[in-house]
Amino acid sequence: MPNLVPAIEADGLTVKFPVRGGVLGKVKSFFTAVDGVSFVLPQGEILSIVGESGCGKSTLVKSLVGLVPMAAGEFKLFGKKVQKGYAGSSRVCDLMQMVFQDPFSSLNPRQTVTEILTAPLCARGVSFAEAEKRARELLERVSLPAGSLQKFPHEFSGGQRQRLCIARSLMLSPKILLCDEVTSALDVSVQAQILHLLDDLRRDLGLSILFISHDMQVVRALSDKVLVMYFGKVVEYGRADEVLVNPQHDYTKKLLASVPVIRG
Ligand SMILES: Nc1ncnc2c1ncn2[C@@H]1O[C@H](COP(=O)(O)OP(=O)(O)O)[C@@H](O)[C@H]1O
Ligand SMILES: [Mg+2]
Repeated sequence: MPNLVPAIEADGLTVKFPVRGGVLGKVKSFFTAVDGVSFVLPQGEILSIVGESGCGKSTLVKSLVGLVPMAAGEFKLFGKKVQKGYAGSSRVCDLMQMVFQDPFSSLNPRQTVTEILTAPLCARGVSFAEAEKRARELLERVSLPAGSLQKFPHEFSGGQRQRLCIARSLMLSPKILLCDEVTSALDVSVQAQILHLLDDLRRDLGLSILFISHDMQVVRALSDKVLVMYFGKVVEYGRADEVLVNPQHDYTKKLLASVPVIRG
């Protein structure tokens, strides 16, 4: 879709964490976890962010929704600049929702599915009846039975719980999903189902997806574009077919070489 304004245009995103030391725990220096990262996520596409554990993938997407403060850089959503300090605002969160790795800890065990799903809409003044109607629609969309509404999170399997998290992330009808290792805690067979679901949602709802993963096989199956991070910096970025087929950087070559090859 070449003529559409991109979903996200990020320019020089930088996140620094304080390093404390001494008896009083004073800030001694700063550690740069994300170092001048720029990318474009076109509408309706999937951009994968890959790299080994600790390279700054989660911190990067958290900075977009205001979960960690940005030290420098800026980004635009659908062509509109997000002003400094507004990364976590409701306008931004309505457009962009996160789905996390661990579907166990990201759902409140004391709340029923109805409560979990209706809360974001009710908090914005939508009537309970309307919010519940939307919850039913989304349960069906993510292939969970309608009877799930009265249940608690522990009554579901890991894969079903991740479907629930995805349904919750869609309640506010966002345009962008930020998926942080959403299949890493799941069995391989369930992983594939969740990946298919995300790809269907992208197609049917026109969602744009930032997809964090350290699994190159998953990335290969799903991505339109790939961004490779190494110690907080971008070392390779481009169309998936170029980056994955003809990697330029040694680190990307090593990542790809670490994918096991199944011989018959
Ligand atoms: N809240 C925090 N305070 C201090 N350091 C952090 C914080 N969150 C992450 N880090 C550090 O930032 C680096 C990047 O972390 P993270 O973004 O979680 O990496 P990834 O998601 O790629 O595994 C790591 O070295 C991590 O220890
Ligand atoms: Mg992470």
